[in-house]
This record gives sequence, structure tokens and C-alpha cells, in this order.
Amino acid sequence: MAHSESARVIALVNQKGGCAKTTTAVNLAACLASSGRRTLVIDLDPQANATASLGVDPGGLTRTVYHVLVGDERDDAGATLAQIIVPTTVSNLFLAPSSIDLAAAELELAARIGRENSLRKRMGPVLTEYAYIFIDTPPSLGLLTLNALVASDEIIIPIQTHYYALLGMRQLLRTLKMVREEVGHQVEILGVLPTMYDSRTNISKEIVQGIKDFFGDKVFDTAVHFNIKLVESSMVGVPLFMHDPSSRGAQEYMELAKEVMKGHEERARGAAARH
Ligand SMILES: Nc1ncnc2c1ncn2[C@@H]1O[C@H](COP(=O)(O)OP(=O)(O)OP(=O)(O)O)[C@@H](O)[C@H]1O
Ligand SMILES: [Mg+2]
Repeated sequence: MAHSESARVIALVNQKGGCAKTTTAVNLAACLASSGRRTLVIDLDPQANATASLGVDPGGLTRTVYHVLVGDERDDAGATLAQIIVPTTVSNLFLAPSSIDLAAAELELAARIGRENSLRKRMGPVLTEYAYIFIDTPPSLGLLTLNALVASDEIIIPIQTHYYALLGMRQLLRTLKMVREEVGHQVEILGVLPTMYDSRTNISKEIVQGIKDFFGDKVFDTAVHFNIKLVESSMVGVPLFMHDPSSRGAQEYMELAKEVMKGHEERARGAAARH
């Protein structure tokens, strides 16, 4: 069923590697899908971890996000976003897959005019098909991440609760400011998510406090604890909520999904009441 309103588009961004961008994209999307919200994950990372975590073999694909971004849809090398979207094993959850080809997109896009707008332009036709669209990005602030920022309404910043958690945050905030001021696109921070939290150590608590001091009320109430089941489920290609719904990781991503839905759906009702 098509969704009558435009999707809420949320990118997972942090140029630091391994902070749970992909894990959050896949598991949060799966929780929203299982709550009846038609949801799409766009894998914008050449590592294709979101693609594999949703049970799709990136090596077996003929067309991916690369062909959407770089190819011209009138020639054989191109595709529309709608053409590459595949269903997943989770009902209501769809995937626009990536593959290693996407590594070349960064260079190929660099020479083009409006290069930061490629994804946004190509996303238009599918926006009303979904309630939520999540974009998984690579660990850099290069052109792929810039395309994700320009295509998104909001971002979620997952931060691993380890030393140097806040490293690079000023650079990320500068990039957001540049998108607002130079591209003229309003992109907001939806929330900051502490991940791989270890409640046995004071260090984790101190780091979460440091994140709160830096980001204030932008930090989600939910923090995701270290949970090895999240690693296992990504290896079998099934979101944790389907693999082991009673696990702590699954429960915490469901809590996060509720926070994301609550903020959004309350605002939508408020806007409707004002009209
Ligand atoms: N809460 C968690 N507990 C334990 N392991 C986790 C947790 N969240 C993520 N992981 C694992 O940590 C690793 C890095 O996570 P993930 O791939 O989601 O990070 P990423 O930010 O997408 O990395 P990259 O920057 O390379 O794209 C993965 O092996 C993942 O399974
Ligand atoms: Mg990733």
C-alpha cells in the first residue's frame, strides 16, 4: 500500500568507523517495519554491510544504488531507485542495495554539477511509498555522505561509548552547517545514540555524560548496550528483532523505534491540528 504522505528521511551519520551506523539503520528500520510502518533502507556505503545484514548477497546483484546515482536511466548502465528496490525477509521492510561498485561513485560524481543533489533528485518518486526511509552512510564525510545529508530531513548520530567518542563531532557539525548555509537544505539532528554501552564500567557512564554535555537534549533516552546477538544476527542476515526478539539488543532498538515514532507522529498530529 502506498503511503499518502512523504516519507520521513533519516540518515545514519558518523565519520568514525564501527560506531553502529549500519546496525542501527537495519535494526531500527526492522522495528519500525514490524510496527506496521512501511520502511526502506538505502545502503549508501560501498562496504554493503546493510545489504548483507538484510540477507542480500551484494556480489549477486546486477544493479545497485551505484547505477541509480551514476548511470543515466536511459542507457543500460542506469536504473531508477524504484527499479533496484528489493523486499527483505521482514514484511514492510525494503532495501535499495549497495555493492563495492559504489566506491567509484565518489569520483564519478565529483566532476558533475549539482553533485551533492544526485540522491535527493532520484529519491523523489519513491517518497510517498514509505513512511520511513533510512540511509546508511560510509565512515567518511565525502560525497556519498554529503548526498545522504542533502537527501535527509534528519540524521541520527550513533556514538560508541569508548574513548574518543566525541572525536570528529565538530567536523560533523561544520558539515551540517555547510549543508544548511551553502546548499540551503535544512537538515536537523534527530538524536544522538550511545551504542555498545557497557553498564559495568564507569567509563561508559562518564562518556554518556560527556555526550550529554556536548549535545544536550538531543541525546536519545535509549542507549544500546553491548550485545553480541547484534553481531550474530547481522552475520545471518536477519535483523535481531526477528532473530531473537527477547534479546536486550532487540528490545533496545524497539525502544528507540518508539522514541523516533513518538516525536514524529506527535509533531504530525500537532501540525494537522493547527490547519
Ligand atoms: N550494541 C552492540 N553490541 C555489540 N556489537 C555491536 C553493537 N552494535 C554494533 N556492533 C558490532 O560492531 C561492529 C560495527 O558496527 P557497524 O557495522 O554497525 O558500525 P558502522 O558504524 O556501520 O561501521 P562502518 O563505519 O564501518 O560502516 C559490527 O561488527 C557490529 O555487529
Ligand atoms: Mg556501516
